[in-house]
Amino acid sequence: MSNRLQTAQIRDLDSRHHLHPFSNHKSLRASGTRVIVKGEGPYIFDSEGKRILDGMAGLWTTNVGYGRKELADVAYAQMMELPFYNTFFKTTHPPVVELSRKIAEIAPANLNQVFFGSSGSESNDTAIRLIRHYWVLKGEPKRRIIISRKTAYHGSTIAAGSMGGMSHVHQHSYPVYEGFRHVMDPYWYGESFDGETPEAFGLRAARALEDEILRCGPGNVAAFAAEPVQGAGGVKIPPASYWPEVQKIIDKYGILFLADEVITGFGRLGTWFASQYYGVRPNIITFAKAATSGYLPLSGIIIDDKIVDALMNHDDDFNHGYTYSGHPVACAVGLKNIEIMEDENLLEGVKNEKAARLAAMLDKFKDHPIVGEVRSVGLLGAIELVADKKTRRRFADPGRVGLICRDHFFREGYIMRAVFDTMVTAPPLIWKEEQFKEAEGVIAKALDMTYRDVKGEVAA
Ligand SMILES: Cc1ncc(COP(=O)(O)O)c(C=O)c1O
Repeated sequence: MSNRLQTAQIRDLDSRHHLHPFSNHKSLRASGTRVIVKGEGPYIFDSEGKRILDGMAGLWTTNVGYGRKELADVAYAQMMELPFYNTFFKTTHPPVVELSRKIAEIAPANLNQVFFGSSGSESNDTAIRLIRHYWVLKGEPKRRIIISRKTAYHGSTIAAGSMGGMSHVHQHSYPVYEGFRHVMDPYWYGESFDGETPEAFGLRAARALEDEILRCGPGNVAAFAAEPVQGAGGVKIPPASYWPEVQKIIDKYGILFLADEVITGFGRLGTWFASQYYGVRPNIITFAKAATSGYLPLSGIIIDDKIVDALMNHDDDFNHGYTYSGHPVACAVGLKNIEIMEDENLLEGVKNEKAARLAAMLDKFKDHPIVGEVRSVGLLGAIELVADKKTRRRFADPGRVGLICRDHFFREGYIMRAVFDTMVTAPPLIWKEEQFKEAEGVIAKALDMTYRDVKGEVAA
């Protein structure tokens, strides 16, 4: 279609017939959209031929980059062989079995069984239901509360949206589902006291979980749910003291741990899962996005043997599933995607080289007049924009300056996402020195242009 319709026509039809996710529809209609027509390696191209370096890997998805013929070939072959069959009727098929086995192999040792869906939201809904079912099977039906964090994003369905902490996501589901609580984020730059070290802050943030468990009554708490690194919340990287303390608290109260690895899964930190990077022990990992590098919708949860044992030892049904649970084409592409990462040593590349390269790239901007902090882990990075570097004072009207900056980035040919006034990046795992250099050049320009636009608001 994009080849046949002129850009103006596409924009017009888009505005009249296509409703976008997470948008202010009035202003989107006024501003219009950019039409993306092609992807190649680390770049996307718009309908006017502009090449843009994709610093968000799509939407934290496209870890192996665009234009992978191997993935298209596998999808084609699987569509010709068996494009669809369900896994409801005591039926299975080779792609779902092969991918499940492979995921069990790369996941932490105690997670060996996979339940599939199509989106991260679905997989979190699955996890919520399975966690509560588990506690019923264990004879502790009162354990229903799931504790999450204040700026967590776990998806847009009503259950996953309620588990997430973002108030603007809760807004349209009012009243949100019962049974979720939200504690502080491990966000040192934004929430530490004057002079509080990252170490001390990390412990304080972890202990907020314990305080909440005690407030709820430990016998009522089913699980703690968290992203190892909060992504959509603004690439909030926990201080080193946070996860060990959280794990201790989880163990002390015997609650389950749901690690939402929808962003961090499949190599983003240079390990298959960020749980392995941080040495935490989830009972459930949820994944999506980079499971197929975004080439097809596929998500799932990887489940602890002890939960599977509970299912096997009881006669009760678990009444949950999706038509596309274990879709054969998506599974075949998922398996090939993992093979590509293995064949090209993409995880080692992140671990041994690219994580440090991203950190070095961001570090160059830490002294810029509107930059409060830069931070990164693996291939997840952030730049905090502030009006006053010394006091960490934000700009008035949160998000305004982030959008100004985001637009400069786009115009200059590199995509960074604005989370309010935090610019975030998640490059694909295939970046080479050339892309880091290119990104560095654009960051310098985009920050300077943003500074020029808001200079009057910046502390001297
Ligand atoms: C950590 C996390 N969990 C869940 C989701 C929801 O995934 P989806 O948009 O595929 O439903 C997202 C989406 O960005 C996410 O970042």
